[in-house]
Amino acid sequence: MTAKGKVYLVGAGPGDPELLTLKALRLIQTADVVVYDRLVSEDILDLIPAGAAKVDVGKRPNDHPVPQPDINRLLGRLAENGSMVVRLKGGDPFMFGRGGEELMELAAGGFLVEVVPGVTSAQGCAAAAGVPLTHRGYASGVRYITGHCRANIDLDFDWRGLADPDTTLVIYMGLANIDEIAGRLIAHGLSPETPVMAINNGTRLSERRVITRLGAVAATVRRSQFDGPVLFIVGDVVRLATHIETTAAGASDARLEIHA
Ligand SMILES: C[S@@+](CC[C@H](N)C(=O)[O-])C[C@H]1O[C@@H](n2cnc3c(N)ncnc32)[C@H](O)[C@@H]1O
Repeated sequence: MTAKGKVYLVGAGPGDPELLTLKALRLIQTADVVVYDRLVSEDILDLIPAGAAKVDVGKRPNDHPVPQPDINRLLGRLAENGSMVVRLKGGDPFMFGRGGEELMELAAGGFLVEVVPGVTSAQGCAAAAGVPLTHRGYASGVRYITGHCRANIDLDFDWRGLADPDTTLVIYMGLANIDEIAGRLIAHGLSPETPVMAINNGTRLSERRVITRLGAVAATVRRSQFDGPVLFIVGDVVRLATHIETTAAGASDARLEIHA
């Protein structure tokens, strides 16, 4: 069977354009049309040539302007017309980004799909903040979880397994439920003194980092009034973050706030 067309599923990273892969940059600059979501930063959108079409299918929390099946159909239609289509997604397309669904739908529809990985926000934000996600004597492993759940469905995690002081926990999309997540982790044995870093708009000029502790994170978040994406890093490795202020080039511009 001949393919009906091709779609490039490309990760844009957490926001800093210099974290794009060379391949992502080349594809963005040669695309006929770029279909992007709300997490793709303005600095990266500025790299799309003026002659290329830009389609915003961004979803905001509790607001879904373009439903996922419509995005899948749109990508197929554009590729079928012979366009060079880049589907640009924040971070890595396969990390909590529904990239797998788009890949499967397009492949089932007879399209070729090439996936280009991006720096996922956990890695980009941790690196910029000088937080090693694993570190000898602090954390022997790391887990990425989503704090978002579908409407009226409880967060259903292996809380006992997650409440492990030897493992760093990175929480994507956790802002709305951080109160419940912190409470459950504490109820399952994680110390309320466990350090937490909340990173808002990581790797962008507007980046803010707040260090707090698990027992206080919900109150800290309420006070902080974040605007834009937020990621939580939970674990002893956060204690290492203070080194960045003096040692890491380019990472000290972000606002660091400490709430005990
Ligand atoms: C739908 S998920 C997409 C994750 C993305 N595919 C990735 O690999 O990073 C969106 C969540 O990613 C996190 N996120 C993405 N970019 C971020 C950034 N620049 N700063 C902080 N958090 C970010 C936030 O937790 C946000 O709610």
